[in-house]
Amino acid sequence: MPKIAIVDKMHQDGINLLKNNPKFECEIIEDLSKENLISKLPNFDGITLRRGKIDAEILGKCKNLRVISRHGVGYDNIDTKILKEKKISLLVTGTTTSVSPAEHIMFMILNISKSFNLFDKSVRDGKFDTVMHMKHESFELFGKKMLIVGFGRIGKQLIKRCLGFEMKVYAYDPFVDKKVIEKLGGKKINNLEEGLKEADILSLSVPLTKDTYNMINLEKMKKMKKTSIIINTSRGGVINENDLNAALDKEIIYGAGLDVFEKEPPDEKNPLLKNKKVILSPHAATFTKECLSNMAVQTAQNIIDFFENNLKESMIVKL
Ligand SMILES: NC(=O)c1ccc[n+]([C@@H]2O[C@H](COP(=O)([O-])OP(=O)(O)OC[C@H]3O[C@@H](n4cnc5c(N)ncnc54)[C@H](O)[C@@H]3O)[C@@H](O)[C@H]2O)c1
Repeated sequence: MPKIAIVDKMHQDGINLLKNNPKFECEIIEDLSKENLISKLPNFDGITLRRGKIDAEILGKCKNLRVISRHGVGYDNIDTKILKEKKISLLVTGTTTSVSPAEHIMFMILNISKSFNLFDKSVRDGKFDTVMHMKHESFELFGKKMLIVGFGRIGKQLIKRCLGFEMKVYAYDPFVDKKVIEKLGGKKINNLEEGLKEADILSLSVPLTKDTYNMINLEKMKKMKKTSIIINTSRGGVINENDLNAALDKEIIYGAGLDVFEKEPPDEKNPLLKNKKVILSPHAATFTKECLSNMAVQTAQNIIDFFENNLKESMIVKL
Protein backbone atom coordinates (compact mmCIF):
# COMPACT_ATOMS: atom_id res chain seq x y z
CA MET A 1 0.00 0.00 0.00
CA PRO A 2 1.53 3.39 -1.01
CA LYS A 3 2.60 5.52 1.95
CA ILE A 4 1.80 9.20 1.49
CA ALA A 5 3.32 12.08 3.47
CA ILE A 6 1.06 15.13 3.70
CA VAL A 7 3.79 17.73 4.14
CA ASP A 8 2.28 20.83 5.77
CA LYS A 9 -1.41 20.88 6.63
CA MET A 10 -3.89 21.63 3.89
CA HIS A 11 -7.68 22.07 3.79
CA GLN A 12 -9.45 19.18 5.51
CA ASP A 13 -11.36 18.32 2.31
CA GLY A 14 -8.07 17.23 0.71
CA ILE A 15 -6.78 15.43 3.80
CA ASN A 16 -10.08 13.51 4.10
CA LEU A 17 -9.91 12.40 0.48
CA LEU A 18 -6.61 10.64 1.14
CA LYS A 19 -7.23 9.54 4.72
CA ASN A 20 -10.61 7.96 3.85
CA ASN A 21 -9.15 6.07 0.91
CA PRO A 22 -8.34 2.51 2.08
CA LYS A 23 -5.73 2.12 -0.67
CA PHE A 24 -3.34 4.60 0.98
CA GLU A 25 -1.56 4.99 4.29
CA CYS A 26 -1.13 8.68 5.19
CA GLU A 27 0.75 10.75 7.73
CA ILE A 28 0.59 14.52 8.20
CA ILE A 29 4.02 16.13 8.70
CA GLU A 30 3.77 19.57 10.29
CA ASP A 31 7.41 20.13 11.33
CA LEU A 32 8.92 21.47 8.11
CA SER A 33 12.51 21.70 9.38
CA LYS A 34 15.12 20.05 7.19
CA GLU A 35 16.14 17.66 9.99
CA ASN A 36 12.58 16.41 10.33
CA LEU A 37 11.95 16.10 6.58
CA ILE A 38 15.23 14.25 6.03
CA SER A 39 14.45 11.77 8.78
CA LYS A 40 10.76 11.22 7.89
CA LEU A 41 10.42 11.41 4.11
CA PRO A 42 12.60 8.41 3.08
CA ASN A 43 9.76 6.12 4.21
CA PHE A 44 7.21 7.43 1.74
CA ASP A 45 6.16 6.61 -1.83
CA GLY A 46 4.35 9.90 -2.42
CA ILE A 47 4.37 13.40 -0.96
CA THR A 48 1.84 16.20 -1.00
CA LEU A 49 3.71 19.45 -0.50
CA ARG A 50 2.48 22.87 0.53
CA ARG A 51 5.29 24.79 2.29
CA GLY A 52 8.63 23.10 3.02
CA LYS A 53 11.78 22.89 0.94
CA ILE A 54 12.58 19.61 -0.79
CA ASP A 55 16.24 19.87 -1.73
CA ALA A 56 18.77 17.52 -3.33
CA GLU A 57 19.94 16.11 0.00
CA ILE A 58 16.40 15.14 1.07
CA LEU A 59 15.60 13.69 -2.36
CA GLY A 60 18.86 11.72 -2.28
CA LYS A 61 17.57 9.81 0.76
CA CYS A 62 14.07 9.15 -0.64
CA LYS A 63 14.67 5.78 -2.31
CA ASN A 64 10.95 4.88 -2.61
CA LEU A 65 9.63 8.25 -3.68
CA ARG A 66 7.70 8.18 -6.98
CA VAL A 67 5.65 11.37 -6.93
CA ILE A 68 5.39 14.86 -5.42
CA SER A 69 1.97 16.46 -5.66
CA ARG A 70 2.38 20.21 -5.14
CA HIS A 71 -0.40 22.10 -3.39
CA GLY A 72 -0.45 24.94 -5.93
CA VAL A 73 1.26 25.52 -9.26
CA GLY A 74 4.66 27.04 -8.33
CA TYR A 75 7.42 24.55 -7.55
CA ASP A 76 10.47 26.70 -6.83
CA ASN A 77 10.73 24.99 -3.39
CA ILE A 78 11.69 21.67 -5.02
CA ASP A 79 15.00 20.67 -6.66
CA THR A 80 13.55 19.77 -10.07
CA LYS A 81 16.93 18.75 -11.52
CA ILE A 82 17.13 15.85 -9.06
CA LEU A 83 13.46 14.98 -9.61
CA LYS A 84 14.20 14.60 -13.30
CA GLU A 85 17.33 12.51 -12.69
CA LYS A 86 15.46 10.22 -10.32
CA LYS A 87 12.36 10.09 -12.58
CA ILE A 88 10.11 11.30 -9.76
CA SER A 89 6.88 12.79 -11.13
CA LEU A 90 5.86 16.32 -10.23
CA LEU A 91 2.16 17.24 -10.23
CA VAL A 92 0.45 20.62 -9.82
CA THR A 93 -3.13 21.69 -9.18
CA GLY A 94 -3.85 23.18 -12.62
CA THR A 95 -6.61 25.76 -12.87
CA THR A 96 -7.74 25.44 -9.23
CA THR A 97 -5.36 28.31 -8.41
CA SER A 98 -6.30 30.75 -11.14
CA VAL A 99 -9.60 32.43 -10.22
CA SER A 100 -8.70 33.54 -6.68
CA PRO A 101 -5.28 34.98 -7.68
CA ALA A 102 -6.90 36.82 -10.62
CA GLU A 103 -9.50 38.26 -8.22
CA HIS A 104 -6.70 39.16 -5.77
CA ILE A 105 -4.89 41.07 -8.50
CA MET A 106 -8.11 43.00 -9.26
CA PHE A 107 -8.58 43.65 -5.54
CA MET A 108 -5.06 45.13 -5.31
CA ILE A 109 -5.55 47.25 -8.44
CA LEU A 110 -8.88 48.55 -7.12
CA ASN A 111 -7.51 49.16 -3.64
CA ILE A 112 -4.69 51.34 -4.99
CA SER A 113 -6.61 53.09 -7.76
CA LYS A 114 -9.44 54.05 -5.40
CA SER A 115 -7.15 55.12 -2.49
CA PHE A 116 -9.08 52.66 -0.35
CA ASN A 117 -6.74 52.61 2.65
CA LEU A 118 -6.71 56.41 2.90
CA PHE A 119 -10.51 56.64 2.67
CA ASP A 120 -11.09 53.90 5.22
CA LYS A 121 -8.69 55.56 7.69
CA SER A 122 -10.16 59.02 7.16
CA VAL A 123 -13.66 57.86 8.15
CA ARG A 124 -12.38 56.02 11.23
CA ASP A 125 -10.21 59.03 12.26
CA GLY A 126 -13.15 61.46 12.07
CA LYS A 127 -11.75 63.14 8.94
CA PHE A 128 -14.81 62.44 6.78
CA ASP A 129 -15.02 66.02 5.46
CA THR A 130 -11.27 66.74 5.27
CA VAL A 131 -10.91 64.26 2.44
CA MET A 132 -13.31 66.19 0.18
CA HIS A 133 -10.88 68.98 -0.74
CA MET A 134 -7.72 66.92 -0.87
CA LYS A 135 -5.77 66.53 -4.11
CA HIS A 136 -7.12 63.18 -5.23
CA GLU A 137 -4.83 60.59 -6.73
CA SER A 138 -7.60 58.01 -7.35
CA PHE A 139 -8.19 57.06 -10.95
CA GLU A 140 -10.60 55.19 -13.19
CA LEU A 141 -9.65 51.84 -14.69
CA PHE A 142 -11.80 52.59 -17.73
CA GLY A 143 -9.59 52.89 -20.82
CA LYS A 144 -6.35 52.23 -18.90
CA LYS A 145 -3.66 50.02 -20.38
CA MET A 146 -3.02 46.79 -18.55
CA LEU A 147 0.11 44.77 -19.21
CA ILE A 148 -0.07 41.13 -18.15
CA VAL A 149 3.37 39.53 -18.02
CA GLY A 150 2.93 35.75 -18.13
CA PHE A 151 -0.23 34.73 -19.97
CA GLY A 152 -0.86 31.33 -18.42
CA ARG A 153 -3.74 30.10 -16.30
CA ILE A 154 -3.88 33.22 -14.08
CA GLY A 155 -3.25 35.63 -16.97
CA LYS A 156 -6.18 34.11 -18.87
CA GLN A 157 -8.53 34.64 -15.89
CA LEU A 158 -7.19 38.14 -15.30
CA ILE A 159 -7.81 39.39 -18.83
CA LYS A 160 -11.56 38.63 -18.56
CA ARG A 161 -11.79 40.72 -15.39
CA CYS A 162 -9.79 43.61 -16.90
CA LEU A 163 -11.97 43.65 -20.01
CA GLY A 164 -15.01 43.81 -17.73
CA PHE A 165 -13.61 47.14 -16.53
CA GLU A 166 -13.15 48.21 -20.17
CA MET A 167 -9.35 48.32 -19.90
CA LYS A 168 -7.08 47.75 -22.90
CA VAL A 169 -5.12 44.60 -22.28
CA TYR A 170 -1.63 43.75 -23.54
CA ALA A 171 0.16 40.50 -22.79
CA TYR A 172 3.87 39.72 -22.81
CA ASP A 173 4.56 35.99 -22.94
CA PRO A 174 7.08 34.71 -25.50
CA PHE A 175 5.66 31.20 -25.15
CA VAL A 176 2.03 32.00 -26.01
CA ASP A 177 0.82 32.41 -29.57
CA LYS A 178 -0.59 35.81 -30.48
CA LYS A 179 -3.85 34.18 -31.64
CA VAL A 180 -4.50 32.81 -28.13
CA ILE A 181 -4.15 36.32 -26.67
CA GLU A 182 -6.21 37.96 -29.41
CA LYS A 183 -9.01 35.38 -29.08
CA LEU A 184 -9.37 36.41 -25.43
CA GLY A 185 -9.48 40.11 -26.35
CA GLY A 186 -5.84 41.13 -25.73
CA LYS A 187 -2.89 42.21 -27.85
CA LYS A 188 0.46 40.41 -27.83
CA ILE A 189 3.54 42.48 -26.98
CA ASN A 190 6.83 41.12 -28.29
CA ASN A 191 9.12 43.57 -26.55
CA LEU A 192 8.76 43.88 -22.78
CA GLU A 193 10.28 47.37 -22.63
CA GLU A 194 7.82 48.70 -25.23
CA GLY A 195 4.99 47.27 -23.15
CA LEU A 196 6.33 48.83 -19.95
CA LYS A 197 6.43 52.30 -21.57
CA GLU A 198 2.73 52.06 -22.45
CA ALA A 199 1.37 50.34 -19.34
CA ASP A 200 -0.71 52.06 -16.67
CA ILE A 201 -0.82 48.82 -14.71
CA LEU A 202 1.67 45.96 -14.80
CA SER A 203 0.73 42.58 -13.35
CA LEU A 204 3.23 39.73 -13.05
CA SER A 205 2.05 36.13 -13.34
CA VAL A 206 5.18 34.24 -14.38
CA PRO A 207 6.94 31.35 -12.63
CA LEU A 208 10.20 32.10 -10.82
CA THR A 209 13.01 30.86 -13.07
CA LYS A 210 16.56 31.97 -13.92
CA ASP A 211 15.02 34.11 -16.70
CA THR A 212 12.31 35.74 -14.61
CA TYR A 213 14.47 36.39 -11.51
CA ASN A 214 14.55 40.20 -11.07
CA MET A 215 13.04 40.66 -14.53
CA ILE A 216 11.56 43.90 -13.15
CA ASN A 217 14.37 46.08 -11.78
CA LEU A 218 14.99 49.82 -11.46
CA GLU A 219 16.10 50.14 -15.07
CA LYS A 220 12.80 48.60 -16.23
CA MET A 221 10.71 50.68 -13.81
CA LYS A 222 12.35 53.83 -15.18
CA LYS A 223 10.75 53.01 -18.54
CA MET A 224 7.29 53.10 -16.94
CA LYS A 225 4.93 56.04 -16.43
CA LYS A 226 5.19 57.97 -13.15
CA THR A 227 1.49 57.24 -12.66
CA SER A 228 1.80 53.50 -13.16
CA ILE A 229 1.28 50.72 -10.65
CA ILE A 230 2.82 47.24 -10.37
CA ILE A 231 1.12 44.18 -8.91
CA ASN A 232 3.14 41.08 -8.10
CA THR A 233 1.32 37.94 -7.01
CA SER A 234 3.72 35.52 -8.73
CA ARG A 235 6.94 35.04 -6.77
CA GLY A 236 9.01 37.53 -4.77
CA GLY A 237 12.22 37.24 -6.76
CA VAL A 238 10.53 38.30 -10.01
CA ILE A 239 10.74 41.93 -8.92
CA ASN A 240 13.80 43.44 -7.24
CA GLU A 241 12.43 44.60 -3.87
CA ASN A 242 15.09 47.25 -3.13
CA ASP A 243 14.62 48.70 -6.60
CA LEU A 244 10.84 48.75 -6.12
CA ASN A 245 11.21 50.56 -2.83
CA ALA A 246 13.49 53.15 -4.47
CA ALA A 247 11.15 53.57 -7.45
CA LEU A 248 8.21 54.25 -5.10
CA ASP A 249 10.20 56.67 -2.91
CA LYS A 250 11.58 58.58 -5.89
CA GLU A 251 8.14 58.69 -7.57
CA ILE A 252 9.41 56.76 -10.57
CA ILE A 253 6.15 54.79 -10.33
CA TYR A 254 2.97 55.59 -8.36
CA GLY A 255 2.15 52.47 -6.37
CA ALA A 256 2.49 48.74 -5.96
CA GLY A 257 0.75 45.69 -4.55
CA LEU A 258 2.73 42.67 -3.40
CA ASP A 259 1.42 39.28 -2.32
CA VAL A 260 4.82 37.59 -2.49
CA PHE A 261 8.31 38.33 -1.19
CA GLU A 262 11.79 37.13 -1.99
CA LYS A 263 12.06 35.93 1.60
CA GLU A 264 8.82 34.78 3.25
CA PRO A 265 7.97 36.03 5.80
CA PRO A 266 9.91 39.19 4.86
CA ASP A 267 12.66 40.46 7.17
CA GLU A 268 11.56 43.12 9.65
CA LYS A 269 14.16 45.36 8.01
CA ASN A 270 12.64 45.03 4.53
CA PRO A 271 11.99 48.72 3.67
CA LEU A 272 8.78 47.86 1.81
CA LEU A 273 7.11 47.01 5.14
CA LYS A 274 7.24 50.72 6.06
CA ASN A 275 6.51 52.11 2.60
CA LYS A 276 2.95 53.55 2.43
CA LYS A 277 2.93 53.43 -1.37
CA VAL A 278 2.78 49.67 -1.44
CA ILE A 279 -0.04 47.45 -0.21
CA LEU A 280 0.92 44.00 1.05
CA SER A 281 -0.66 40.61 1.64
CA PRO A 282 0.93 37.46 3.12
CA HIS A 283 1.09 35.19 0.04
CA ALA A 284 -2.67 35.06 0.40
CA ALA A 285 -3.95 35.23 -3.18
CA THR A 286 -5.35 31.71 -2.84
CA PHE A 287 -6.74 32.16 0.68
CA THR A 288 -10.41 31.90 -0.19
CA LYS A 289 -12.68 29.12 1.06
CA GLU A 290 -13.21 27.89 -2.47
CA CYS A 291 -9.62 27.98 -3.64
CA LEU A 292 -8.14 26.35 -0.53
CA SER A 293 -10.63 23.51 -0.69
CA ASN A 294 -10.28 23.03 -4.46
CA MET A 295 -6.47 23.09 -4.26
CA ALA A 296 -6.30 20.55 -1.42
CA VAL A 297 -8.79 18.23 -3.12
CA GLN A 298 -6.87 18.43 -6.41
CA THR A 299 -3.54 17.83 -4.61
CA ALA A 300 -4.97 14.66 -3.04
CA GLN A 301 -6.79 13.58 -6.22
CA ASN A 302 -3.53 13.88 -8.17
CA ILE A 303 -1.89 11.38 -5.80
CA ILE A 304 -4.81 8.97 -6.15
CA ASP A 305 -4.87 9.35 -9.95
CA PHE A 306 -1.08 8.87 -10.14
CA PHE A 307 -1.18 5.52 -8.32
CA GLU A 308 -4.25 4.45 -10.31
CA ASN A 309 -2.63 5.43 -13.63
CA ASN A 310 -5.44 7.85 -14.30
CA LEU A 311 -3.70 11.24 -14.30
CA LYS A 312 -4.84 14.21 -16.35
CA GLU A 313 -2.05 15.45 -18.67
CA SER A 314 -2.57 19.06 -17.50
CA MET A 315 -1.54 18.16 -13.92
CA ILE A 316 1.90 16.83 -14.91
CA VAL A 317 4.92 19.16 -14.99
CA LYS A 318 7.19 18.35 -17.92
CA LEU A 319 10.62 18.45 -16.32
N1 LIG B 1 0.36 34.34 -4.84
C1 LIG B 1 -0.12 33.12 -4.92
O1 LIG B 1 -0.70 32.61 -3.97
C2 LIG B 1 0.03 32.36 -6.22
C3 LIG B 1 -0.99 31.48 -6.60
C4 LIG B 1 -0.86 30.80 -7.81
C5 LIG B 1 0.27 30.98 -8.59
N2 LIG B 1 1.26 31.83 -8.17
C6 LIG B 1 2.45 32.04 -9.00
O2 LIG B 1 2.00 32.55 -10.24
C7 LIG B 1 2.71 31.90 -11.29
C8 LIG B 1 1.81 31.83 -12.51
O3 LIG B 1 0.73 30.93 -12.26
P1 LIG B 1 -0.08 30.28 -13.49
O4 LIG B 1 -0.99 29.26 -12.92
O5 LIG B 1 -0.64 31.36 -14.34
O6 LIG B 1 1.13 29.56 -14.24
P2 LIG B 1 1.22 29.11 -15.76
O7 LIG B 1 2.35 28.17 -15.83
O8 LIG B 1 -0.13 28.68 -16.24
O9 LIG B 1 1.59 30.48 -16.52
C9 LIG B 1 2.83 31.09 -16.44
C10 LIG B 1 3.07 31.77 -17.78
O10 LIG B 1 4.30 32.50 -17.69
C11 LIG B 1 4.92 32.41 -18.96
N3 LIG B 1 6.35 32.71 -18.86
C12 LIG B 1 7.37 31.91 -18.45
N4 LIG B 1 8.54 32.57 -18.53
C13 LIG B 1 8.25 33.83 -18.99
C14 LIG B 1 9.03 34.97 -19.26
N5 LIG B 1 10.36 34.97 -19.09
N6 LIG B 1 8.41 36.09 -19.70
C15 LIG B 1 7.06 36.12 -19.87
N7 LIG B 1 6.26 35.05 -19.65
C16 LIG B 1 6.85 33.92 -19.20
C17 LIG B 1 4.66 30.99 -19.43
O11 LIG B 1 4.77 30.88 -20.84
C18 LIG B 1 3.23 30.78 -18.95
O12 LIG B 1 2.28 31.07 -19.97
C19 LIG B 1 3.08 30.53 -10.73
O13 LIG B 1 4.28 30.04 -11.30
C20 LIG B 1 3.24 30.78 -9.25
O14 LIG B 1 4.61 30.98 -8.95
C21 LIG B 1 1.15 32.51 -7.01
